[in-house]
Amino acid sequence: MKGIYILINQILFVFMLSNFFMVHSLQLEPLAKLWNIDDEQIPEYLNIEKNLSTIDGILKSYLDNDNFGGTYINVIQRKVFINTLNETAAEQIKNRPEIRPYVNSLNFSIASNSTAKLNSGIKDILNLAKRYNPADCLGYTDAKVNNIVIATCVEDRNNTRNAAFLNATKIYYPIYIYYICIPEKNNNTISQNNMKFESRNGIVDYILAGDGLNIYERTTRNSTKCSVGFWAKNRLNPNFNFIATAGHCFRQNAFYYLLPWNSTNENFKYYVGEMIIYYQSPIDFGLISISSNSNVTPVANIRNTDSKKYAQLQIKDNIVVSSNGAHLCISGLRSHVKCGYVKALSGFASTVDEKEFIENLFVVSMYIIEGDSGGPIFSYNQDLIYASLNGILLGSFDYDINGDINNAIIQVQPIDFILNNTAIKVVTVT
Ligand SMILES: *[C@@H]1O[C@H](CO)[C@@H](O)[C@H](O)[C@H]1NC(C)=O
Ligand SMILES: *[C@@H]1O[C@H](CO)[C@@H](O)[C@H](O)[C@H]1NC(C)=O
Ligand SMILES: *[C@@H]1O[C@H](CO)[C@@H](O)[C@H](O)[C@H]1NC(C)=O
Ligand SMILES: *[C@@H]1O[C@H](CO)[C@@H](O)[C@H](O)[C@H]1NC(C)=O
Ligand SMILES: *[C@@H]1O[C@H](CO)[C@@H](O)[C@H](O)[C@H]1NC(C)=O
Ligand SMILES: *[C@@H]1O[C@H](CO)[C@@H](O)[C@H](O)[C@H]1NC(C)=O
Ligand SMILES: *[C@@H]1O[C@H](CO)[C@@H](O)[C@H](O)[C@H]1NC(C)=O
Ligand SMILES: *[C@@H]1O[C@H](CO)[C@@H](O)[C@H](O)[C@H]1NC(C)=O
Ligand SMILES: *[C@@H]1O[C@H](CO)[C@@H](O)[C@H](O)[C@H]1NC(C)=O
Ligand SMILES: *[C@@H]1O[C@H](CO)[C@@H](O)[C@H](O)[C@H]1NC(C)=O
Repeated sequence: MKGIYILINQILFVFMLSNFFMVHSLQLEPLAKLWNIDDEQIPEYLNIEKNLSTIDGILKSYLDNDNFGGTYINVIQRKVFINTLNETAAEQIKNRPEIRPYVNSLNFSIASNSTAKLNSGIKDILNLAKRYNPADCLGYTDAKVNNIVIATCVEDRNNTRNAAFLNATKIYYPIYIYYICIPEKNNNTISQNNMKFESRNGIVDYILAGDGLNIYERTTRNSTKCSVGFWAKNRLNPNFNFIATAGHCFRQNAFYYLLPWNSTNENFKYYVGEMIIYYQSPIDFGLISISSNSNVTPVANIRNTDSKKYAQLQIKDNIVVSSNGAHLCISGLRSHVKCGYVKALSGFASTVDEKEFIENLFVVSMYIIEGDSGGPIFSYNQDLIYASLNGILLGSFDYDINGDINNAIIQVQPIDFILNNTAIKVVTVT
């Protein structure tokens, strides 16, 4: 009897398990998780997003800076939200022949801060930042909350420079978010030593955007981790091949090795080369020259090997998103592929050396892990095997002072800014 009971229990368990997997097997793709939809609905939602971005773009040319305070799209609600200070002005816009066809996709919500006020506020705050030089500081305008946000580390809050800066910015009544930075840095260095090495079916010598980099300093014998941003070539001489990543991944006297996902920290099998050019401000960007001794071959694809269907995403172009609320995803050594929403299309941040500010960045809601730095930030195309490169990952703020991960944000260096300031081009599949 007992035997049968166990058997029935096992059958029930297997049944429940298969049910469990059934529900989740529909939501394997990172975008499906972001939007909380089934995998098969992704193309439909990408289409909605594309339409909303188009409408947002058309609309923006009619919004003045005094009567409106920014826009953002929401794919789930299928709406473009417009922060509105003057309802008469909103009515006039709704009645324009260019806008009337989209009026059901628009939500003019009452707000209190105009774009003019927010723009001048963030400009003043950047000037204050330049004067007081606070450490680990990020400033941006969050369209959804219609206010300026200042993100800093709680550990820096009372240092002289930060305290003076924070006090001086009070007159603008921004939103302050304090993050736990030091413990986070410690528990960021998750050891993945006991993880299984990922067999890549004999393609282990290819290097893709999102792969890991093991950075080995010859003199100190220390090693650090970053992620591959993308494959780049010199615009004038396409024989020069580079792996692009963040500038703060530079180490003195260091060799750069490919570190495949899920491999151990000590992996020196695949030599890439040395970082020959790097900047930390006004851009945070570095180029590893692929050495003639290298045993890796670059590919213009983004690694997405946790997905069975789209194991590699082909980089089709480099176009940056233009709407708040649009999706952006990362591929990186620690996080693999995950997605979030654009919170701001501009902002400023302290640099690693704290001497200057990076004045051209995106802010995206996402939780990443140290080691993802330099990884590609991309958007999926309608056809999910293609992606558009939007930029590379610079840094992040993770747990806030309340231990809440929902305020996690990343800073993204936009690709157009990188290209404008360097002599490289992105290698794409087309
Ligand atoms: C997107 O816009 C096109 C053209 O305006 C329209 O035909 C299509 O139905 C829209 N798709 C969605 C998902 O809204
Ligand atoms: C609101 O907008 C209307 C139409 O653009 C304009 O005539 C009016 O002056 C605005 N009101 C305020 C308070 O700015
Ligand atoms: C517009 O958005 C606001 C805020 O989300 C919501 O309260 C309101 O019901 C929406 N209005 C329409 C007409 O959808
Ligand atoms: C900073 O100073 C405030 C007030 O003086 C104090 O309450 C707080 O604990 C200090 N924070 C840190 C991280 O030292
Ligand atoms: C804080 O800023 C105000 C001006 O906004 C200034 O008068 C005051 O001295 C500052 N306090 C400190 C402690 O720096
Ligand atoms: C935005 O609006 C809020 C609420 O009215 C206000 O407290 C804040 O000062 C405004 N922000 C700026 C930068 O003016
Ligand atoms: C990382 O640190 C935060 C803040 O101290 C803590 O809440 C969280 O549980 C830690 N995460 C891990 C994986 O240890
Ligand atoms: C690599 O790690 C991810 C999760 O971190 C896991 O889903 C995947 O199965 C792992 N691959 C191998 C080959 O172990
Ligand atoms: C190398 O690592 C050691 C031990 O982790 C550390 O004390 C030292 O500061 C590091 N050296 C450099 C140059 O980063
Ligand atoms: C890049 O350069 C182009 C052409 O000069 C310019 O229109 C664009 O605004 C620049 N973009 C950035 C982000 O600097």
